[in-house]
Amino acid sequence: MWDPAVYHRYGTERSRPFFDLMARIGADGPREVVDLGCGPGELTATLAERWPQARVTGLDSSPEMIAKAAALGSAAQFRVADLTAWRPGPATGVVVTNAALQWVPEHRELITAWARELPAGAWFAMQVPGNFDAPSHRALREVARSEPYAAVVGDVVRDAPVDDAAGYAALLLDAGATVDAWETTYVHLLPDGGDEHPVLRWMEGTALRPVKAALGDLAWRTFRVTLNARLRAVYPARSGHVAFPFRRIFVVAHL
Ligand SMILES: C[S@@+](CC[C@H](N)C(=O)[O-])C[C@H]1O[C@@H](n2cnc3c(N)ncnc32)[C@H](O)[C@@H]1O
Repeated sequence: MWDPAVYHRYGTERSRPFFDLMARIGADGPREVVDLGCGPGELTATLAERWPQARVTGLDSSPEMIAKAAALGSAAQFRVADLTAWRPGPATGVVVTNAALQWVPEHRELITAWARELPAGAWFAMQVPGNFDAPSHRALREVARSEPYAAVVGDVVRDAPVDDAAGYAALLLDAGATVDAWETTYVHLLPDGGDEHPVLRWMEGTALRPVKAALGDLAWRTFRVTLNARLRAVYPARSGHVAFPFRRIFVVAHL
């Protein structure tokens, strides 16, 4: 289950890649704009502000996220839906998917299918995290694959569910698009105050969700304590902050 309140921790840091992605979309007057895996909807709402003439729709498979989004009162419309079932229509002008496709194992096939079905002139823009080899994820995998957790969550944490930017660029070039692809490592400087390491608090909003869901309450508490200690060792605080480098992968395609 997604918890919009936990996901909103570090909201400023999380939203920056979305705006960096948007800055490379050149669409003037799209009729329909869709945000696949829209989450709590604030970022989708900015699409409705940018293209007020467009019908803007945010789709997400989490009812909790869509409830939050629908309460914003934005001009965008929000719907609970699995993005794997979405298909472009003749009026689709912009497709945005920010920090969502890493959760969808078949996303490469979907990207190829969407690119082939999108009308000429449409834009497709995606961003996924590229931090699965970072110390944070290595620590997560080590703890998840150690005793007594391995039997329950050893398989829950994935090695690298995404490609690099060149891999996605190739898929879209093959479909005949003009492609702009890049990677950025943001160095988030997270304030460090209490016992809980800020990278643990960050990961609770995303990567740790399936682990928490799979472990019972007691096991989750000890897992958290163990991971917290590991993170403190690999991301030490300095001047009250922890530097958390976070690589992200971006691709914008124009059909
Ligand atoms: C990390 S959040 C990103 C939310 C938003 N795009 C943002 O940038 O803040 C990932 C979102 O993808 C959604 N998601 C994951 N798999 C999905 C699927 N198969 N269909 C629709 N939404 C999905 C989750 O429910 C979650 O809200």
